Amino acid sequence: MKHLFSLLALVGIGAAMGTQPALAMEGSETSRQQQQKMMNIAHRGASGHSPENTMAAFQKGFEMKADYIEMDVQMTKDGELVIIHDTTVDRTTDGTGNVGELTFEEMRQLDAGSWFHDNYAGEKVPSFVEVLDAFRGKTGILIEIKAPELYPGIEEKVAEALKERNMHQPNHQKIIIQSFNHESMKKSKELLPQVPHGVLAGRGWAKVTDEQLAEFASYADYFNPNMTIVTPELVDRVHKAGMMMFPYTSRTQEQADHLFQLNVDGIVTDFPEHVYYHPVHNH
Ligand code: G3P
Ligand code: CA
Repeated sequence: MKHLFSLLALVGIGAAMGTQPALAMEGSETSRQQQQKMMNIAHRGASGHSPENTMAAFQKGFEMKADYIEMDVQMTKDGELVIIHDTTVDRTTDGTGNVGELTFEEMRQLDAGSWFHDNYAGEKVPSFVEVLDAFRGKTGILIEIKAPELYPGIEEKVAEALKERNMHQPNHQKIIIQSFNHESMKKSKELLPQVPHGVLAGRGWAKVTDEQLAEFASYADYFNPNMTIVTPELVDRVHKAGMMMFPYTSRTQEQADHLFQLNVDGIVTDFPEHVYYHPVHNH
């Protein structure tokens, strides 16, 4: 197994440096090893370094060479898609109130950076299309539809924005859509059949059955669990069901190391440097 980790590490180093190791260049080995590359997903942007879900955090994730930036999409009172995690603006802005009860104009008046550090004063709550237009083609985008039960029609609006930009085609853009609301993902998959989808799974899914995994696999490409429920057996069962796994959320080097060794497909982290500077690289 140690050799496998070393191989994974070698491929990871190559990817992080924008190069491919020589042994990954040969025939069928190439695709197998590329599949094994550990995806580095900047959670809410590089949110350990910059205020979550702001353009500054997404830019930081891009500069740190994350494979994907992850973001949370919600909808304002007047139907605009905005990027914010909580269903209220209280924690991450200088305002108060529910996202769904504020207009886009009201949201844009808020300071979404000062709570994190004075250096980020004036950061705004981004719109969904602003992030798409800034980063499409530059890095992968993991789109979480947050609390879609509060925002009827949000799946259609997400689909519309992607289609307008021709981002709904296979292999055209690195786009994945995920949600804790699995009915929403079924609906979104129907709207965007060529876009990979993921089901998010909290701690309550620790005992997920093979039947449930098969049902998820009928519309999802990823089973993305809370990292605390990930075991080697679960990783294996998810792979056998035909899905990949990006567990969330690693915040320490030790957590990233642990997930790396469990053979997951990607690590959702606040600190992208924990994934591509994995210590196994030094073995
Ligand atoms: O990528 C999964 C992760 O973002 C889910 O948790 O609460 O940070 O949105 P949360
Ligand atoms: Ca999220």
